[in-house]
Amino acid sequence: MSGIERLAVVGAGSLGQAFAGLLAASGQSVTLLASAATAARLSTAGRIRLRGVVELDAPVAPAPAGAGVVGLTDDPARLPARAGLIFATKGHQLEAAVQSVRAAWPGAGDEASWVAGVQNGLVKDDVLRRAFGERRVVGAVTILGAGREVGGEVTVYSRGMTYLGEFPSGVSERVSEAVALLGKAEIPAEATADIASVLWSKECNAVGVFGVSVLTRLSASATMRIPELIRAYLSLVRETAAVAAAHGVQVGDYAGFSIRTYVERSDEETLARMLAPGPAAPSAPAGPPIMPSMTQDLLAGRPMEADEVFADVAIRAEKVGVSVPRIELARDLICGLNRMLTAGAVKG
Ligand SMILES: NC(=O)c1ccc[n+]([C@@H]2O[C@H](COP(=O)([O-])OP(=O)(O)OC[C@H]3O[C@@H](n4cnc5c(N)ncnc54)[C@H](OP(=O)(O)O)[C@@H]3O)[C@@H](O)[C@H]2O)c1
Repeated sequence: MSGIERLAVVGAGSLGQAFAGLLAASGQSVTLLASAATAARLSTAGRIRLRGVVELDAPVAPAPAGAGVVGLTDDPARLPARAGLIFATKGHQLEAAVQSVRAAWPGAGDEASWVAGVQNGLVKDDVLRRAFGERRVVGAVTILGAGREVGGEVTVYSRGMTYLGEFPSGVSERVSEAVALLGKAEIPAEATADIASVLWSKECNAVGVFGVSVLTRLSASATMRIPELIRAYLSLVRETAAVAAAHGVQVGDYAGFSIRTYVERSDEETLARMLAPGPAAPSAPAGPPIMPSMTQDLLAGRPMEADEVFADVAIRAEKVGVSVPRIELARDLICGLNRMLTAGAVKG
């Protein structure tokens, strides 16, 4: 199955606006399905504003819009045919978004369209498979970093890599097409023959980074300067990698997360390397340290993706009989915090 004509995005948050804005700025056609409130706000603003490592304003107009303009809608029926549809909602918003899209899209006879999710965690692809069927789902991982600001603009912190690949493995024509469309928009993208390895490696990093940062309320860079916290990170990475191995997946080293190295090397060596004085850091941007997204959610009193990142991997561990006591402790603490957040009992 190949032959999409464009990419489209569900969710006009940090990542959704960054992807849609960059695609439009490269002269491509792109549709962005937003919540009603955000569609109204962007429509009034008339543009998506990306700042940070990207400085651009992308005009928005009701979908379908012409090339170079983000076609904005809050109606899934206005999503285009023959599209690769990237879901960029939070993990806990995915099921509802998928259900509303599936009720209206893809249309009968549209065999080419496919879906992908960029949420943290592994469960997103199960949600997509249940709704759209196995053959429509392309595996995706992104480490492009972005955050919404109170003024409405999106700060793009880094143009991190986006990986795409087929399940259970392999690269197809549709994956290569999507990588080319993203590349044209200067969104770094790579086709990978082993998307499961990338997904699990990112999950190892997410469990480690979020586990330590949420429970200490420190930035990732601060935690990586403290020996006890590096050990905590590595222990969570090791447990997650053991679950991956029991599922037949070997973790790897990818840009931004050298998980295979962390697992194969002794913790003592990793600690020594991380704590060794290095060359002076290149002029660090001014301002407060950047918190991992889950810590940002905690501090802002928003629900965290705790079930998708922690509870889900604990379930996957139990299924294959792997003992993960540290992940279970992190799950209980973070899911407990999340319960209070979602009940409105914790503010910051
Ligand atoms: N941001 C990053 O740097 C980054 C990096 C890698 C992975 N991720 C993952 O990517 C996912 C998205 O992150 P994010 O930071 O972009 O989140 P976000 O800023 O909260 O954006 C989520 C967007 O989805 C919208 N939405 C929710 N339900 C919807 C529905 N049914 N229909 C249409 N839109 C809907 C939200 O609407 P409202 O506008 O009304 O809130 C919001 O605009 C998360 O799972 C995150 O873990 C993020």
